[in-house]
Amino acid sequence: MTTRLTVLATGGTIAGIAGNAIAQDYRAGEIGIEDYLERVGGLGLEAELSGRQIANIDSADIGPQVWNSLHRAIVEALQDQECSGVIVTHGTDTLEETAFLLDLTLPSTKPVVVVGAMRPADAVGYDGLRNFANAVRVGCDANAAGRGVLVVMGDRVFSARDVRKVRTRGAEAFRGFPRESIALVTPSTLEWFGAPWNDRDAARFAWSDDLPPVEIVYVHAALEADAVTRQLGEGTRGVVVAGVGEGNMPEDVRTVLAQCAADGIAVVRASRADEGLVDREPEDDANGFVAARALNPQKARILLQLLLAGGETDPAALQRAFDGR
Ligand code: SIN
Repeated sequence: MTTRLTVLATGGTIAGIAGNAIAQDYRAGEIGIEDYLERVGGLGLEAELSGRQIANIDSADIGPQVWNSLHRAIVEALQDQECSGVIVTHGTDTLEETAFLLDLTLPSTKPVVVVGAMRPADAVGYDGLRNFANAVRVGCDANAAGRGVLVVMGDRVFSARDVRKVRTRGAEAFRGFPRESIALVTPSTLEWFGAPWNDRDAARFAWSDDLPPVEIVYVHAALEADAVTRQLGEGTRGVVVAGVGEGNMPEDVRTVLAQCAADGIAVVRASRADEGLVDREPEDDANGFVAARALNPQKARILLQLLLAGGETDPAALQRAFDGR
């Protein structure tokens, strides 16, 4: 039986052009989906591909508007009996945020694979073709369902919860934390490390096209409380602290944020460290703070936005949701 995959394109370096095989500068989001499918048409991939352009932009510009269109298009594709899975092409800079948002809001009954590239399409050593061929290999595998949204980069498969971009150069730019990659993939082989774990046929969170404003406060030596107050505008509903070490911050900043929590603004402590794991500390109860556990600040922000959009503001309930990740 033919496997039919829907490819939803959003831009990024995978669709980027430099105009010169060795140039450093390039423009992300230049190749359209029809052109892209023609380019991969000669690879002999095992799936029948159909494509749709959702956006064609640098992923630094991705936000709620593109997320809404992308989510709607994926839901539509997954409901189509003929469609076995979805591949999303995406810039690598914010790929982890989009993948995690989709992971929290989509059912896990068919594979959804997000893929990008570190080098533009006309560069020597373009990694986009191989990553794309690998993504097709994953999308064709029935065992890819039930593992949540997957990210394919550098011959590895990561779960959306764990994946993070850790390098700005080279094709091996992604890692997983706390779990490393969950499979190794090439265009013709796929080896999973373990069985599917979350065979769910419903999304964990309802989709929201009105995500509430949540700020990330980046902590550094000598961060002043006034700078934090200036950053938090009138409408702020939540704050994620990219804290030093295990979600720590200067005492004056802690005082300001404890007051925010007392005023009903959700405050989540995450870590700015690459492999940050933030547990609850005894003062969190009195301060009304939530610990982000293994989520980095940008992913903690996505989860907090979904929780707030669903009407959840109680710190204990927020903590349970973060513990569940
Ligand atoms: C982007 O994220 O859109 C540009 C960088 C990349 O895709 O690697």
